[in-house]
Amino acid sequence: PRHRPLYGRHVLVTAGPTHEPIDPVRYIANRSSGKQGFAIAAAAAALGARVTLVAGPVSLPTPPGVDRVDVESAREMSEVVKKSLPADAAVMVAAVADWRSKHYAPEKMKKRGSAPPALLLTENPDILAQVAAGKQRPKLLVGFAAETEDVVENAKAKRKRKAADWIIANDVSGPPGASVMGGDANAVHIVTGEGVEDLPKMPKDQVALAIAERMAAALDKVDPR
Ligand code: C5P
Repeated sequence: PRHRPLYGRHVLVTAGPTHEPIDPVRYIANRSSGKQGFAIAAAAAALGARVTLVAGPVSLPTPPGVDRVDVESAREMSEVVKKSLPADAAVMVAAVADWRSKHYAPEKMKKRGSAPPALLLTENPDILAQVAAGKQRPKLLVGFAAETEDVVENAKAKRKRKAADWIIANDVSGPPGASVMGGDANAVHIVTGEGVEDLPKMPKDQVALAIAERMAAALDKVDPR
């Protein structure tokens, strides 16, 4: 039916940051509230999809009708995402940490009055790129791009580099606390193979609904039923 255009579809969403442990009390993370990803999961469910939400550490309630799996690190997120496939569409909204500490310290690192420790970093898996290259690639694969400059140009390049169908770009410039990060509104640009659609700044749940509606239309095009 018209008001449940994602009925019968499985939509996979990643959201939130990842926490990369340094020792039992410290971690590396990106700034992410998870709000936009949770809103997309909620919107997809409201439009009738079966939704799997793979969430990093956030303090947000699970949207109604959404199957949620909580993870901590990028490697855990990657494992759960792989196990959650196949999906008709995947939307990777998580702000995955690019790097983790190469050597986890099983005991809390001590100050001991000497020089601070040096952290050696190693690269995390790129979950979006893995899914794009995988055998179970969803028919519609959507990535996000948080940019502070040349927002659309960078998103176009990212779309090709990551072999995603769409990149949804948002401008996160501005001082921490006064920007899109953690706020309730977002202005996005939807970069597809066909062009760029600029949406006005609006509440994150409206951004999510707009994205979910466009996903339903795109799936009906590539996978009619
Ligand atoms: O390259 P960048 O991190 O800016 O790409 C952002 C997009 O890639 C987002 O959709 C994000 O969820 C995804 N990503 C990922 N795994 C990573 C890094 C980014 O899935 N390790």
